[in-house]
Amino acid sequence: MAHLVGISGSLRKGSFNTSLLKAAQELMPSGSTLEIASIEGIPLYNFDVETEGIPKAVDLLKDRIAAAEGLLLVTPEYNNSIPGVFKNAIDWLSRPPKDIPRVFNGRPVALIGASTSLGGTRFSQVAWLPVLRTLGTQPYFGKLLYSASAAQAFDPEGRLIDEKVRSQLTLVMAGFAKFITTGR
Ligand code: FNR
Repeated sequence: MAHLVGISGSLRKGSFNTSLLKAAQELMPSGSTLEIASIEGIPLYNFDVETEGIPKAVDLLKDRIAAAEGLLLVTPEYNNSIPGVFKNAIDWLSRPPKDIPRVFNGRPVALIGASTSLGGTRFSQVAWLPVLRTLGTQPYFGKLLYSASAAQAFDPEGRLIDEKVRSQLTLVMAGFAKFITTGR
């Protein structure tokens, strides 16, 4: 059905969002696949660095997204908004602007996220919307997933143990795969 690439917006070893991304990979509907990518190795954006050449980690990630049929962003929330490291990575992926059509235009994008408080990344998911619009993506507005109280939702090995979150994540991944293949 659909081949997706997913990125976690946290660099932390024990990241709940990276664990959520791994759970999403396990729960993909039959026939669809989710390849896990990372923002590791992407430097802080600096036009001077860009002028010397797009960093290898950025170019490789752009190619992986361009080769996929959909993009899953698994976002943490910092101060009710997008964490800087994740926004920085997406900003790099939008450079140079002539590559935006290849990487982002018309690309189906879904947002999910996990946080340790009760809001479960609601604010950061909303904060991503103007970015997704600016890049000309096709956001998936079907099923929602906000994983609150993440410290209880995952076990110490990072396995998703909250059954309600697991079943909602299954619905999200099935809905997103269907959106990609049927456009609705
Ligand atoms: C947070 N956290 C947080 N959580 C939330 O739900 N709303 C928020 O506004 C914030 N703000 C915030 C700011 C900063 C600077 C940090 C470091 C953390 C807590 C956050 O949800 C928690 O650290 C998660 O564990 C981060 O995700 P990963 O790294 O586990 O994927």
